[in-house]
Amino acid sequence: MDDLKEKYLGLIANAADEAAIEDLRVQAVGKKGEISLKMRELGKMTPEERQVAGPALNALKDEINSALSAKKAALADAALDARLRDEWLDVTLPSRTRAQGTIHPISQVTEEITAIFADMGFSVAEGPQIESDWYNFDALNIPGHHPARAEMDTFYTHRKEGDNRPPHVLRTHTSPVQIRSMEATGAPTRIICPGRVYRSDYDQTHTPMFHQIEGLAIDRDISMANLKWVLEEFAAAFFEVDKIEVRFRASHFPFTEPSAEIDFRCSWVDGQLKLGEGDDWLEGGGSGMVHPKVLQNAGIDPAEWQGFAFGLGIDRLAMLKYGIPDLRAFFDSDLRWLRHYGFNPLVQPTLHGGLSR
Ligand code: PHE
Repeated sequence: MDDLKEKYLGLIANAADEAAIEDLRVQAVGKKGEISLKMRELGKMTPEERQVAGPALNALKDEINSALSAKKAALADAALDARLRDEWLDVTLPSRTRAQGTIHPISQVTEEITAIFADMGFSVAEGPQIESDWYNFDALNIPGHHPARAEMDTFYTHRKEGDNRPPHVLRTHTSPVQIRSMEATGAPTRIICPGRVYRSDYDQTHTPMFHQIEGLAIDRDISMANLKWVLEEFAAAFFEVDKIEVRFRASHFPFTEPSAEIDFRCSWVDGQLKLGEGDDWLEGGGSGMVHPKVLQNAGIDPAEWQGFAFGLGIDRLAMLKYGIPDLRAFFDSDLRWLRHYGFNPLVQPTLHGGLSR
């Protein structure tokens, strides 16, 4: 029995893993294990022999069983320690400064503009890019014969032979979203709508698809003064300067009355554009007080509500802010261009954290 004890305690001490422990258990105290077989021999012994051998065998069995479970627990502890050592992570390492891809300047500028207007209480509205004749033109007070339709170089879709309804168009501006949004929420409302628009035109400053951002604020007593303040706040925040003066130039849009072209004060020195100072003016976009007929077309009573709308070119704002000379390059998908002008995808533009970093 002493030999058995020595043999198994030695084997258990040297077992490498839990599988080896299980093998040893079967071999020693399993049904056909060495110690179990010894216990069967008790039956053949004389009562005197049995009285000595019985308790001794039981004690041996207990001792081996507890050696087995102690070793099993020790092995599990060691395995956990090894795992904790291997799966160690240095959380004080700096994050990667540049991920593989970059954010396209259009996406970046759209995010920047959205952050600025969100801070002034504007939410983002969307509409379809394939638009009905009604939303793109008529509802905006541009009837069929109006010259504005021709000026916009519209892309038309085709109707089936014999279908005489007016064709759908690729929206020529984001203004149809004004109508859809007012229909959906009524007044008061405060939205911006960034998105793609389409006009048949192509040169250094025109592409057949480009991006606009529409703004709309309707309430009981909104005026041109509110419009001017909003645009000045926006321009200063967007170009990241203290102050930018806005000038209104009398203009005409069928959907606003009065209408004004938006100019930002600037200077050009040695081909360098500086916003906010100087004696030059930079064209920014169109704006005005929403025409009563447009409010009516969107189901809003013009006797009770009024407000302003404006439209700015996102691509143009991106070119001015980031010194990008050719609009067409935006849509070439040239990787070298994207690496040069693209933005860090891990940085979200915010007013408090900085718009462009
Ligand atoms: N929709 C006009 C355009 O594309 C811009 C605009 C928007 C003008 C809102 C006034 C008010 O030219």
